[in-house]
Amino acid sequence: MQLEGFPDFVLNKKRSWPTLYIFFFQGESEIFQKQSMIHIKNSKEIQKMRDAGRLAAEVLHETGLRVKPGVSTLELNDFAESFTRKHGAISAPLNYKGFPKSICTSINNVVCHGIPSQDDVLKDGDIMNIDVTVIYHDFHGDTSRMFTVGEVSADAKTLIEDTEEAMWVGIRTVKPNNRISDIGEAIDQFLTPRGYGIVRDLTGHGIGRNFHEDPPVPHYRQNQVRQRMQPGMTFTVEPMVNQGTWKVDFSKEDGWTVTTSDGRLSAQFEHTVLVTDDGYDVLTRMEN
Ligand code: MF3
Ligand code: CO
Ligand code: CO
Repeated sequence: MQLEGFPDFVLNKKRSWPTLYIFFFQGESEIFQKQSMIHIKNSKEIQKMRDAGRLAAEVLHETGLRVKPGVSTLELNDFAESFTRKHGAISAPLNYKGFPKSICTSINNVVCHGIPSQDDVLKDGDIMNIDVTVIYHDFHGDTSRMFTVGEVSADAKTLIEDTEEAMWVGIRTVKPNNRISDIGEAIDQFLTPRGYGIVRDLTGHGIGRNFHEDPPVPHYRQNQVRQRMQPGMTFTVEPMVNQGTWKVDFSKEDGWTVTTSDGRLSAQFEHTVLVTDDGYDVLTRMEN
């Protein structure tokens, strides 16, 4: 694997899960070939996943109500942090592998892992993903969605709608005995004819006591993550969808911010899901 030029967190030095679920396709992709360790949750653990998922959804909803022109992403971060604490939970991103803030705020050409900042002030026409992950009674809930600021372009609206639908197309494949690869297959069949680039270097992931667990959940067509889904598995489906190329760049300045290589827009939606006896349950809903 050719890893030069990437920041430390990408390098997955120990080669053990959980990684930051980033793959490289140079040469043999050894991460896919490793023995995987998928934790099947028991009913007590599933209840905790539900509680964490519900709280993550609430934090995302409440934070989203504060999105408007003139607001900085740092203000959104600080709101989310205090709301999370008030509910007895912890913001999982804060200090995760050195991430400096409590949520990710990814504006326009930022694909994911945008760092909230006083200098990033929302303006009319922006699109933004807010990604919230909480730890509640030792379990993680991870969810994200897009927000629009003022009036946005018709193209941006379409990107957002198609990305949300792509997430659901993926989630609807979830049921026992289907393969993890069926998720990306379905999403790819939906998005590729529409001309989008599906991000390959970051994927969904198993989730539970750890933020990122096995299995990786690619959102594009591939035949390497072939594990079959089983009741009690919990993982995220979180397609990152680009208007143009699927290629992305990792910031060398802050070590985190991922941007589209061609500068065009990117969108993402994310839910944490549970495999049930006959299908799936979305855990990151406020109604749960
Ligand atoms: N919430 C992101 C995900 O969906 C991960 C963010 S890692 C962080 O997996 F460190 F940037 F927070
Ligand atoms: Co996630
Ligand atoms: Co997330």
